[in-house]
Amino acid sequence: GRRVTVRDIAAAKERHEKWPMLTAYDALTARIFDEAGIPVLLVGDSAAMVVYGYDSTIPVTVDDLIPLAAAVVRGSKRAMVVADLPFGSYQTGVPEALAAATRFLKETGAHAVKVEGGRRILPQVEAMVSAGIPVMGHLGLTPQSVNVFGGYRVQGRGQAGEELMADAKALEAAGAFSLVLECVPEELAARVTSSLSIPTIGIGGGGRTDAQVLVWQDMAGLTPHTAKFVKKFADIGTVLGDAARSYAEEVVSGVYPAPEHSYK
Ligand code: KIV
Ligand code: NA
Repeated sequence: GRRVTVRDIAAAKERHEKWPMLTAYDALTARIFDEAGIPVLLVGDSAAMVVYGYDSTIPVTVDDLIPLAAAVVRGSKRAMVVADLPFGSYQTGVPEALAAATRFLKETGAHAVKVEGGRRILPQVEAMVSAGIPVMGHLGLTPQSVNVFGGYRVQGRGQAGEELMADAKALEAAGAFSLVLECVPEELAARVTSSLSIPTIGIGGGGRTDAQVLVWQDMAGLTPHTAKFVKKFADIGTVLGDAARSYAEEVVSGVYPAPEHSYK
């Protein structure tokens, strides 16, 4: 089978079909999500927290994310792989954005990039699209701007909603193929979704976007504290902790390894 493409994503909106996106940061989980039928995998700069242990996405670099994106591409067969451009790699200008995005496509095999922000980064979005790089937008709670927001909170209430709508329309006009809406009122996300012809992907944006995305460690119950919008679809953290405790116990008591684990 072939990979999911930007055309498949566009066609899904015309057919009013909702679809799921998940983050992935390594080959094993990419394979599991791919085989589960997740059509789009995002190598998020959330790797800063869930892989590298930072407390925001600000410190992570292109060099940090490139090996993760390459692993996700190698681990998957069918999914479209989107890579986040990290803070500082595209805000500074068009040449920087082109250089960073080009590295992801050439060195990892990722199929598209994602960038945070609206009208202020239009020249970068236009240049990348012109260069043949599909661009996913991201508006609302854009974590790379946490220092401007003064924390992680709902965005786009009141007049800010009209600004977000203008940014969304500008990103579509600049050629973005899809748009993440993070932590915005459901009503606004629904209005943006019906105003655009490109698909919207919600995370904390209610149920009326074209698609949904979650950080996989959040939805699988690996991260201890999660936002209101997260649903825990499994309790991997408990399963893994129990496995580690059982392993430790059996090593200490001598139950493991047993004869069947040993070579004669
Ligand atoms: O980095 C990330 O994981 C993201 C998604 C949550 C949209 O940007
Ligand atoms: Na991100």
